[in-house]
Amino acid sequence: MSTFWSIWISVIVLGTIFGCWWLLWATRKSQTTDTETEKTMGHSFDGIEEYDNPLPKWWFYLFLGTCIFALGYLALYPGLGNFKGLLGWSQHGQWEEEMQLADARYGELYAQFEETPVPELAQNEQAMRMGQRLFANNCAVCHGTAARGSVGFPNLTDDDWLWGGSPEEILATLHNGRQGNMPAKGVMPNMNATQVDQVVNYVLAYSGREKNAEAAKAGEQVFAQACAACHGADGKGNTALGAPNLTNNSWLYGSTYEWIEETVLYGRQNEMPAQSDRLSDAQIQILAAYVYGLSND
Ligand code: HEC
Ligand code: HEC
Repeated sequence: MSTFWSIWISVIVLGTIFGCWWLLWATRKSQTTDTETEKTMGHSFDGIEEYDNPLPKWWFYLFLGTCIFALGYLALYPGLGNFKGLLGWSQHGQWEEEMQLADARYGELYAQFEETPVPELAQNEQAMRMGQRLFANNCAVCHGTAARGSVGFPNLTDDDWLWGGSPEEILATLHNGRQGNMPAKGVMPNMNATQVDQVVNYVLAYSGREKNAEAAKAGEQVFAQACAACHGADGKGNTALGAPNLTNNSWLYGSTYEWIEETVLYGRQNEMPAQSDRLSDAQIQILAAYVYGLSND
């Protein structure tokens, strides 16, 4: 603030206070006697007359008190232009003090949680309350508030894992993120339409839902050639590649013939974003424990 405005504000503020004071003093009138008189101001309204009495004492001193309080306040705290007040208080200073307090309080707790193994942390009620809040703020947009996921976003409450459900695997997922990548037609780019139909029927047969038993049978060979490298010879998936288990009737995408055909024809690309540049190690530890707890009650 420039000196001019600083003085301008100070003059107005102090002028108002002293103005009030002067007004009070100048109209004080027989304040010392405190005797009520019968003297009137000489007018009456509907028969009610206005007496010329002094202000009630309590009111007079209260008003004086507020003027003195205002002057005291302005001496201690900022309020007069650039004058910082005798206490040196500032909003920013108070904010910093509170942040330091929060650091002292939660920093210790965070440091402690960061050192606690995930399964043990998942039993800690306070950590899980923090985990729930962190999840709501950072993960729920994709995985849903109940962590049940939706098409393309995995359900985190079941026992079916793309990348593995051990504490180490969950921590790695959160720290570094994951890229799920299935190439179109697996590793058989020249797959023809008949073979596509066969392999889709084969995948449906894992959950007893094949449309054409014969095609499903023929699909076994296509699967071994085009898909087994990632999904395993038994179709149970591979957590090192994020290749889902196809045999448990739990789906990241749709479960119908059309959805599976689309996956085979065009492949799938999916990404879980890395969290380590957004969240602290302690926060990730708490979230990993929260996710771990969802499927290990
Ligand atoms: C932008 C959307 C998005 C956000 C935000 C996000 N995720 Fe994910 N997450 C995904 C996707 C997509 C996948 C599946 C990746 C794949 O298909 O391989 C995934 C996978 C995962 C997995 C692996 C699941 C499995 O079956 O192996 C875990 C665990 C996970 N997320 C936890 C979290 C947590 C905890 C957070 C919050 C810090 C979070 N995610 C935030 C999109 C997101
Ligand atoms: C290079 C490895 C790889 C090959 C080969 C591969 N897949 Fe996949 N597949 C994946 C990955 C990784 C995903 C998960 C994609 C994601 O995270 O979105 C996936 C997803 C799928 C899904 C979706 C599962 C669900 O839960 O919704 C189906 C169905 C599928 N694959 C079938 C096949 C079939 C059939 C073949 C052979 C024609 C095949 N895959 C070949 C890696 C592979």
